[in-house]
Amino acid sequence: MAVASSAHSTIFSKTSLFHHINGFKRFSFCLPFSSSAAASISSKKKWRQPVASSELELGGIKIAKDDVVRDDPTNNVPDTIFSKMGMQLHRRNNHPLGILKNGIYEYFDSNYPNLFDKFDDLCPIVSVKQNFDDVLVPADHVSRSYNDTYYVDSKTVLRCHTSAHQAELLRRGHTHFLVTGDVYRRDSIDSTHYPVFHQMEGVRVFTPDNWEASGLDPTSYAAEDLKKSLEGLARHLFGAVEMRWIDAYFPFTNTSYELEIYFKEKWMEVLGCGVMEQEILKSNGRSDSVAWAFGLGLERLAMVLFDIPDIRLFWTNDERFTSQFSEGQMGVKFKPFSKYPPCYKDMSFWINESFTENNLCEVVRGIAGDLVEEVSLIDNFTNKKGLTSHCYRVAYRSMERSLTDEEINDLQWNVREQVQKKLNVVLR
Ligand code: DAH
Repeated sequence: MAVASSAHSTIFSKTSLFHHINGFKRFSFCLPFSSSAAASISSKKKWRQPVASSELELGGIKIAKDDVVRDDPTNNVPDTIFSKMGMQLHRRNNHPLGILKNGIYEYFDSNYPNLFDKFDDLCPIVSVKQNFDDVLVPADHVSRSYNDTYYVDSKTVLRCHTSAHQAELLRRGHTHFLVTGDVYRRDSIDSTHYPVFHQMEGVRVFTPDNWEASGLDPTSYAAEDLKKSLEGLARHLFGAVEMRWIDAYFPFTNTSYELEIYFKEKWMEVLGCGVMEQEILKSNGRSDSVAWAFGLGLERLAMVLFDIPDIRLFWTNDERFTSQFSEGQMGVKFKPFSKYPPCYKDMSFWINESFTENNLCEVVRGIAGDLVEEVSLIDNFTNKKGLTSHCYRVAYRSMERSLTDEEINDLQWNVREQVQKKLNVVLR
């Protein structure tokens, strides 16, 4: 829930889908999107934002818009998401995300010369099997719902994490690899959440000769190497910071940890990791091995390292942003340019049982795109008849220019109309 005051504290838990054992609260009430979407699918075309190109190439594969965005109840990918798919921010050496990716490469290259294979253009359209089954995400896990994940059809998704590539790369014989890519999640709207962001996955496989000489059992050997390697990475990025390991839960690792650092006077999660579930190794031709794996969110770390206050800035072409970063310059502090004033619009409606905040945010983004800064629930009550009313405040603000009253009124008018139609709620 994008309540303003929680925006900062939630960024660090939300880049990690499979967080704490009981951290699934964000996924409660995840009814399939289709119940409300199916009813209003015919109106979809009218309010979708136009996109510049209807075809793109990803990892050598040509993808047409129609392959990804379709009027079909098994599909919940909007045009706005398709338009982000070819952007490849993490492959731009002058972009904070590219600079950070290269900084992490530099750490692995200098400590483990020629050991890690690097992938940064694997296609983000993957099967449900790759994204979930291959990494042992339970069949009833909420992350599989249409409320949380973008489905191209019932068997195909936009990857929601780079872990989706673990199994295939193991099968292809890779034993040390880093996978960087754009990942997609339906989510709320605030300064730290955007439906597309970037992750890096790391995997290292060990064979018996590695651990036999150490006198340690394979799992302890892998866990020890994991901790040593990732503490080194954190020091490489953040300097001589205090660190701590927190026990965590992920379906694909056992044991699982999060690494936190003490940075700018608070504890901050840097990454999730663990010893890979043996079943994943076994299913992919490596039953004799153990492995560690980690996953980190690039935006979250880049926001802290470069002082970037709003996640939308990563997507801007405004030179006042882009010109501040250059290749190899890790941690240059971003100097904010003038902030244009926000404009707030409130909207109240009676919800129905299939209402979710993610669906609301999807509608608002479909109309206002990056002009919406935050959507937050400011009032919530249930009347005597059992009807529940929500009041949401939408903050509109461009990072590049002043918005006119007329423009904002137009946006809000459209938002109200579409929220009503698409989500079947009753405006008050
Ligand atoms: N896939 C996890 C996420 O998106 C991050 C992660 C955690 C990746 C632990 C890993 C891992 O490889 O071992 O939340």
